[in-house]
Amino acid sequence: MSFALEIRNLKKAFGGLEVTRDVSLTVAAGARHALIGPNGAGKSTLVNLITGVLKPSGGEILLGGSGIGNLSQAERVKRGLARTFQINSLFPTMTVAENVALAMVAHDGADARVLDNISRDPALAARIGEHLLRLNLADTADRLVSNLSYGQQRIVEVALALALRPNVLLLDEPAAGLAAKDVEMLLDLLKGLPDTVSVLIIEHDMDLVFRFAQTITVLVDGRVLLTGTPEEVRKDQRVRDVYLGRRHG
Ligand SMILES: Nc1ncnc2c1ncn2[C@@H]1O[C@H](COP(=O)(O)OP(=O)(O)OP(=O)(O)O)[C@@H](O)[C@H]1O
Ligand SMILES: [Mg+2]
Repeated sequence: MSFALEIRNLKKAFGGLEVTRDVSLTVAAGARHALIGPNGAGKSTLVNLITGVLKPSGGEILLGGSGIGNLSQAERVKRGLARTFQINSLFPTMTVAENVALAMVAHDGADARVLDNISRDPALAARIGEHLLRLNLADTADRLVSNLSYGQQRIVEVALALALRPNVLLLDEPAAGLAAKDVEMLLDLLKGLPDTVSVLIIEHDMDLVFRFAQTITVLVDGRVLLTGTPEEVRKDQRVRDVYLGRRHG
């Protein structure tokens, strides 16, 4: 069976510091998979290895069964791997629709003059409109990103990643700094995704993790402690000791 994403024995060291130690992980097609672990466990490093920001010291990364370890970041995106854009990669003086148009262009490799064309290209305008409608963001289409709340901007980041039409979506702490109502909006958006999109989410908000994920992997000191259902992870004494214990005293 081929998985949406498979990581085999991945390794990464910064100088003498081993941050990723023989990590193996599979994300099933259509998965709602969460990666949790204490600060410094190596979660973001793993996303950077998967997306090609960092080069591993060893191991393999397969997307849909094919090795992607030698591909550039852009080539991985073209193969269907997307991560949330960092907030400062949104264009604040452009509207949400224009930002989505740029993300779509980046994916299609089409002409960057697309922005002149939104109003003149009904097919593109319709695609943007549909995308935002599906994500419950239709009412933000014509608003400038700089006029949105922090929470709305973070949700627009997710919308941009989805405009790339990924098979696998990687989210690194999408709820960080969000007000409770924005977390609900994010959760609704994520729960509404079709199962053609497999999701791997890193999150410290345990309420969000346990409400969203069907599978949870716990990473501690660069190693996988266990992968299991939310129930298995909740009950696991090692998780309580090593991770939840640290957080909750
Ligand atoms: N570029 C780098 N150079 C050296 N050390 C790094 C680098 N990036 C990360 N590290 C170290 O690697 C370890 C793992 O960091 P990482 O950011 O992956 O953790 P994390 O699990 O995402 O933590 P958090 O929950 O706080 O976001 C940390 O000890 C960090 O200091
Ligand atoms: Mg991190």
